[in-house]
Amino acid sequence: MSERTSDKSIEELISGRRTIYAFKSSPVPPLEEIKQAINLARWAPNHYLTEPWHFYLVGPKTAKAIAQLNAELVGVKHGEKAAQIKLERWSKMPGWLVLTCNKSDDPVRAQEDYAACCCAVQNLMLYLWSLGIGVKWNTGDVIQESKFYDLIWVDPDAETVVGLFWYGYAEEVPNKARKQVDRFLIELP
Ligand SMILES: Cc1cc2nc3c(=O)[nH]c(=O)nc-3n(C[C@H](O)[C@H](O)[C@H](O)COP(=O)(O)O)c2cc1C
Repeated sequence: MSERTSDKSIEELISGRRTIYAFKSSPVPPLEEIKQAINLARWAPNHYLTEPWHFYLVGPKTAKAIAQLNAELVGVKHGEKAAQIKLERWSKMPGWLVLTCNKSDDPVRAQEDYAACCCAVQNLMLYLWSLGIGVKWNTGDVIQESKFYDLIWVDPDAETVVGLFWYGYAEEVPNKARKQVDRFLIELP
């Protein structure tokens, strides 16, 4: 999955995009391409145009600190060996990005803003996929931690983390199936 796929149809892009678990540790995709993906992500549908998203480009120092924080959490739950394995895996991830969404006291606004952020993620992932760049969306325990918010300099009263994203060139593209569409398609009179 290192070749560019922009000649693919929208159908092929949507159905062929996969969450990537194994990345090549180098090269890291050019930052300009990630910035363009973020630029396009913002064209997601967004009720009242609240533009609730914040995209944090995570540099190596912060990525290292997040990987260490995650390893600490894994260590508490699963022991030192598991923590070490996670630390090694996370340390090899090529590109890091965090997306947050503005918080709202209005539950409808909060849900709609989160939904808009998810639409933005899909835009971002599909655009990157068209360039041959894979993404993994992470919502593991670490993103709930107040220390995580400290590491990305975010006020947890103002923003909520939608995900931690890794991006890069795939070592392997997994196979994933979906159930038959008629299981989910309900035609009403
Ligand atoms: C909101 C959200 C959170 C996710 N969090 C995780 C995660 O924490 N860990 C993980 O391995 N995959 C995570 N994923 C990726 C899904 O597991 C993945 O999309 C699913 O297995 C389908 O695979 P595909 O994206 O290749 O079609 C998340 C996806 C979404 C939409």
